[in-house]
Amino acid sequence: MKALILSGGKGTRLRPLTYTGAKQLVPVANKPILWYGIEGIVAAGITDIGIIISPETGEEVKAKTGDGEQFGAKITYILQEQPAGLAHAVKVAQEFLADSPFIMYLGDNLIEGNLSLFLDRFKNQQTDALILLREVANPTAFGVAEVDVNGRVLRLVEKPKVPPSNLALVGIYFFNSVIHDAIANIQPSTRGELEITDAIQCLINQQKKVEACQLEGWWLDTGKKDDLLEANRIILDTTCLTQSVLGEVDQKSQVIGRVQIGAGTKLVNCTIRGPVIIGNDCYLENCFVGPYSSIGNNVQLIDVEMDHSVILQSAKVVGIHQRIVDSVIGQRAQLIVAPQRPKALRFMIGDDSQIELT
Ligand code: G1P
Repeated sequence: MKALILSGGKGTRLRPLTYTGAKQLVPVANKPILWYGIEGIVAAGITDIGIIISPETGEEVKAKTGDGEQFGAKITYILQEQPAGLAHAVKVAQEFLADSPFIMYLGDNLIEGNLSLFLDRFKNQQTDALILLREVANPTAFGVAEVDVNGRVLRLVEKPKVPPSNLALVGIYFFNSVIHDAIANIQPSTRGELEITDAIQCLINQQKKVEACQLEGWWLDTGKKDDLLEANRIILDTTCLTQSVLGEVDQKSQVIGRVQIGAGTKLVNCTIRGPVIIGNDCYLENCFVGPYSSIGNNVQLIDVEMDHSVILQSAKVVGIHQRIVDSVIGQRAQLIVAPQRPKALRFMIGDDSQIELT
């Protein structure tokens, strides 16, 4: 069994962060989204992993993620020159996959729980494809399945205007090698891509065995700001379970509840109320940092109140007394406010942005 993780694409829905980096490397609770997928796959016992990369962000993905040693896996990088669709990515990876069954995992998807359950089902039932479905409120944004009363998949449609159900295709699929023939038989969709949804529909048309599992726990497709914040909230809730302070906290500061503070970080007169994660080498002075916040390495926060926000590495925020909420602040962004106080602030600021309200 092999794994194919897709980490290409342009990340248009997460701009401006993705002007300067891969969407799969945007951190959730200070760890790149992509790494949760790799860890989940390794935990299910699959260590031969191919990662699809794009010419724009491939080098960054490679440099950060490495050869897989840190995950106990062997990673092979596969370049997809054009963003020509998920099925096209499988085509490009054919040499790596050979005739092995594989799990295909979209690098910006996160799910609750482990993959072993689905993997066992895929293996035991000897299906040609196993797909995961999840009820969603906005099915038009996804691939959608029509299932019969017994849960058998009848039809799949990609981003339908009139969805046949509210069951979306989760970006995690299990295939055996028949998928390659199906992909060879499909044509690009109206958006000009070879859709994996169409390839699975092709398997259904050929009477191949296509099974579906309904996902009960959470599923996050972290393509947009609010999904990213929601992923950050859920991951902090489930992984930040204790208090651990490696940095320096002065007498006037209070650290309350589930808070992780990295080495080299200094807190002066701050209140931190967890769950919160603060990286290494940060400096925080006169700040309140409230629940569901993640602060990357080397961030400076002075005179700031915030909660439910993500601040990426090396950003600097000074003098904001209205509470910053529901915000994502990019790498190296600077947000510096003089003492006059505006009434409300809601941000999605890209890498290298500089905003000074003087
Ligand atoms: C892709 C698939 C879609 C699936 C979704 C899950 O959509 O085409 O069927 O429901 O991933 O994340 P995309 O992210 O390319 O719009």
